[in-house]
Formats: sequence, structure tokens, C-alpha cells
Amino acid sequence: MNRLYRIVRPLLFRLDPETAHRLTLTALACFPRSRVPADPPELSSHVWGLEFANPIGLAAGMDKDGRALRAWEALGFGLVEIGTVTPRPQPGNPKPRMWRIADHQALINSLGFPSEGAEAVALRIERWRRRFSRLRLAVNIGPNKATPADRVPDDYALLARRFAALADFLVVNVSSPNTPGLRDFQTPAGLRAIVEAIRSAIPAGMRPPPILVKLAPDLDTEILDALGQHLIDLNLGGVVATNTTRQHPPALSAAVAQGGLSGAPLKARAQKMVRELYRLTGGRLPLIGVGGISGASDAYEYVRCGASLVELYTAMVYHGPGLIRQIRRGLVDLLRRDGFRSIGEAVGIDA
Ligand SMILES: Cc1cc2nc3c(=O)[nH]c(=O)nc-3n(C[C@H](O)[C@H](O)[C@H](O)COP(=O)(O)O)c2cc1C
Repeated sequence: MNRLYRIVRPLLFRLDPETAHRLTLTALACFPRSRVPADPPELSSHVWGLEFANPIGLAAGMDKDGRALRAWEALGFGLVEIGTVTPRPQPGNPKPRMWRIADHQALINSLGFPSEGAEAVALRIERWRRRFSRLRLAVNIGPNKATPADRVPDDYALLARRFAALADFLVVNVSSPNTPGLRDFQTPAGLRAIVEAIRSAIPAGMRPPPILVKLAPDLDTEILDALGQHLIDLNLGGVVATNTTRQHPPALSAAVAQGGLSGAPLKARAQKMVRELYRLTGGRLPLIGVGGISGASDAYEYVRCGASLVELYTAMVYHGPGLIRQIRRGLVDLLRRDGFRSIGEAVGIDA
């Protein structure tokens, strides 16, 4: 943890987690333009024909409306996934809806997609995109809570049309535990309906961005097996594994126990899923590993299990933003130690 965060953290932790988060984001949104740290060449890779200066990403949910893009780049991220963005603005679930479980280095949230809505977020990205940036940007998309189940694919289609030209890739979120019915789309038929709606919404003549799906860590093995081949047949760009889990440490209050758990306790489960997906798809589908990454060795484990890129959220709350530079340095050391010349050479080596 860097010195500044050591001072700031106790103050932030005195506030309820959502207020602390809002203040942090407001501060980051005021970030001055600053020099972007150069990335060691070992960390650069090409995925979907796009160059990533480094494989470390900010997971969805931290910057739902894309308010602090400049700051994420200056902190050293190679990619940022904003969202989940919904078509129309919505407030999310009633508060309180976010809890720290400090003993476990974990968070629980039941936010339920508070979002400024597609138009406001798209305009913000358009303003940011005018500047040169090496940061890769993903937009994570999801339906409005009020949308009936049979219209959910239309919500994804609308979002994909608005963001197709603005994002380097899109992430279809079908795994939030906080939007009733959403996880039911994690089936071959459910995913097909969404992906077909998205494809037909992207204007003819435009090269569609890669479309990834974000899965829950709570899928049982048979469902995952059934999805494996299907993910390839659907010609998806890849998978983000995983979202938060419904499996909690015991003895949480009923309100808290409804949310999704992130952070250290999620790591083993999410990593197992990355490994399974890598095997099921024969390494042909790029994977983004996310869940409980709090240091270079965690990130490296994910890469060795099959992740081409990684993302994190909860560890930033516990360790502060200096963590990103620390992971970058540590990853280079680990690659060199094991004789890899680039991150790509290590992907899937332990799958
Ligand atoms: C407060 C909070 C809000 C989140 N919101 C979203 C979201 O809107 N969309 C999404 O796909 N994932 C969301 N996530 C899940 C994260 O993107 C990530 O998958 C999960 O937290 C595991 O990573 P971590 O252990 O590094 O936090 C959220 C997580 C947290 C803690």
C-alpha cells in the first residue's frame, strides 16, 4: 500500500462503502492530465488484433458511467471495463447495498445496475476518445430492471448499436446476481438470443467489435460444459470469468447475504472456472480472468490458468491505486524468472 493511501484508507473506511466510493470517484474524475507510465515490453500483447500495452484491467462496476477514464490510464491500467451501462437511466436497488467484509478482504454488493444510461455515458466516451490514448476500453452492458424478460435481447441490441463504434470490445453481462432473472440467460438458447439481437443491430458495413460474455462463478459443471462449445459456435470474442458469487462466508445478516461477494474468497472459484473454460474451448477463446486478484502472483496464476487479460476491483479498495504499478512490476519479474519473453507465452501453461 502506498503512503498516501495508508493515510486516506482509515478515513474512507469510516464512511459507508458507497459514500467512500462516490468520493473516490469524484476525486479521480478531477485527475489532471499526467504522464502515462511506459509499459515494459514483456507485458504487451495482441488480443483480437488489438494491442494491449499491459494485461491489467479495471473490472466493471468501479466506474459504471465512465467518469474517470483519464485517471485509470494514469494509474497504469492497460484496459478498463466501464458499466454495467443500461439503456435508460435507473437508480439501482434501495440503499444500503454495499458492505465491506474486511476480515476476508471482500465486498458484498447488491447495487442492481445504477446507471446514468447509455446516452450520457456514450457522450462522455466520445469526449474522452478525442484525445490520444493507449488505454483499451470495454463497455459492459445490461438490461434495465423494468424490461420484461422477452425484451431483454432488445435492450442489449440498443446498447450494442450505441457503443459499437466507441468501445474496443463489448461485454454482455448476464451474470449479475442483483437483477432478477438475468442469470437465466446463461444458457445456449439465452446467449444465442442476445448475440443474434446484437449482431442484427450493428449497422451494415461496420466492423463489429468483439463481443464477450461475462459469466457467474456459480454455474454448475454441466451447464458450463454445455456452454463451452456453444461459445465457440456463437463466434464470441471471449469470456470474462467471473462476476461476483452468491456463495458467502457463513453468518452474514439476511440483507447482506442477498448480494454478490467479491475479493479474496472468490479467487479459487473464479480461477477454476478460467481453467475449465480454457480447456473446454481448447484455448481458442480469449479469456479475461477476474476475481480476488490482489497482487502480481494472483494475476500471474490467472494467466497461467488461461487468461489473456485480467481485471480487478475489490483489491483496489483494500490496497489503493498504487497496486496497479506494483502488479505490473511484479508480473515482469515473474515472467523473467520463468523464462518467458512475453505474457502471451505464459497464457494457459497450467490449464
Ligand atoms: C461494488 C461492486 C459493483 C460491481 N458492479 C458490477 C457491474 O455493474 N457489472 C459487472 O459486470 N460486474 C460488477 N461487479 C463485479 C466485478 O466486475 C468483478 O467481476 C468482481 O468484483 C470480482 O472481482 P474482484 O474480486 O477483483 O472484485 C461489481 C463488483 C463490486 C464489488
